[in-house]
Amino acid sequence: MLIQSHFSILVLVLGLLDTQAAASPRRKKVSSVTGGGITQAPTAQQQTAQIKGGVSTATDGSTILDQTVTVNGLDMRFKVSAPADQFTTTSGVDGGTADPGTAGAMGINILLHGDGGQSFFDFPNQAVQANLMGVVMLAPDPNLFWGGGSGLNRTDGAAHSQAVNDLILNELPNVVAYNKSQVFFTGVSGGSLLLSGFFIPAQMTNFQGTGVLLNCGGLELQVNFVDADAVISSTTIHFQSTQDELALLQPAIPSAIVAYENLATSGGLSTAQINALQTVDNSPQGGHCEFDGKDFVSGVQVMADAFSNVIQPGGNGQVDGIGNVLNGVVGNEQLSFSGQT
Ligand SMILES: *[C@@H]1O[C@H](CO)[C@@H](O)[C@H](O)[C@H]1NC(C)=O
Ligand SMILES: *[C@@H]1O[C@H](CO)[C@@H](O)[C@H](O)[C@H]1NC(C)=O
Repeated sequence: MLIQSHFSILVLVLGLLDTQAAASPRRKKVSSVTGGGITQAPTAQQQTAQIKGGVSTATDGSTILDQTVTVNGLDMRFKVSAPADQFTTTSGVDGGTADPGTAGAMGINILLHGDGGQSFFDFPNQAVQANLMGVVMLAPDPNLFWGGGSGLNRTDGAAHSQAVNDLILNELPNVVAYNKSQVFFTGVSGGSLLLSGFFIPAQMTNFQGTGVLLNCGGLELQVNFVDADAVISSTTIHFQSTQDELALLQPAIPSAIVAYENLATSGGLSTAQINALQTVDNSPQGGHCEFDGKDFVSGVQVMADAFSNVIQPGGNGQVDGIGNVLNGVVGNEQLSFSGQT
């Protein structure tokens, strides 16, 4: 009886499911009482697994491949958006010409979504930009939180950042040819917590000389920093927030900025060098991730569209609707906010 009603509720929920529902960060966990037993609705991760992967077309005509691999025992779902010929001959993409495991001429920009997975589905970095192809990964967590846990307490941060690293280095080359010297990163909210708290200190030594865009999130270092001086002196980091940031993040982002700046100072970088590498802006009048002053999805898209301007060498810092966001962190660590969301 219990098993049967559990099954029928599962089918009902899956039948109603659409991408937007699974992606919504505000989706509530549903539980219903049936026949004296408590039945849990499927987790966000289980619901998402019902959405088929496969091949589709990107906004700029690139090809998107959506698949899942197992890394360190974790189910890692990821999408790659690239010109068809950059995929490998074994990837399943028509027109893939690269030999598996070989290097390519293009780099990649890997985006880690916020809590609940919205930006994994939207894939705001899918269009090729300044020779960078787009990759998004889905957090291997029941709630689709990068680093698991909740709030600022990302209990699985070390395991998730290791899985991201291992996916890039060991699995991605089977699918797409890319230049290992041009692996860049974008975080959105919870994805930025994972990158700043765990991934940069533990894994960025493998991707030196590139950059990280931390949108609407920042966390002090949670793990030991491997090769700190080499990473800090060669990595561009931009912190982007808004005037009405989440209350939880209003102290966390400045703490992260101070932590990274202190590493640069103790590594011997001058003020000018630090300000060229580490920058910050929270001028947009908007709530959490609403960089266009309007909405989460369109706000994240505005920053993704400006990735090259903000992060890549020689970028002019211009973001549509904001202006130049490249304010050096020195003296600008303590952001002021006008409200909170
Ligand atoms: C890979 O990127 C590095 C760093 O930008 C560059 O020096 C190198 O020429 C690139 N390799 C190819 C094959 O394009
Ligand atoms: C983080 O969450 C874990 C698991 O729920 C808990 O044991 C731990 O005390 C929490 N840490 C903090 C600092 O809240």
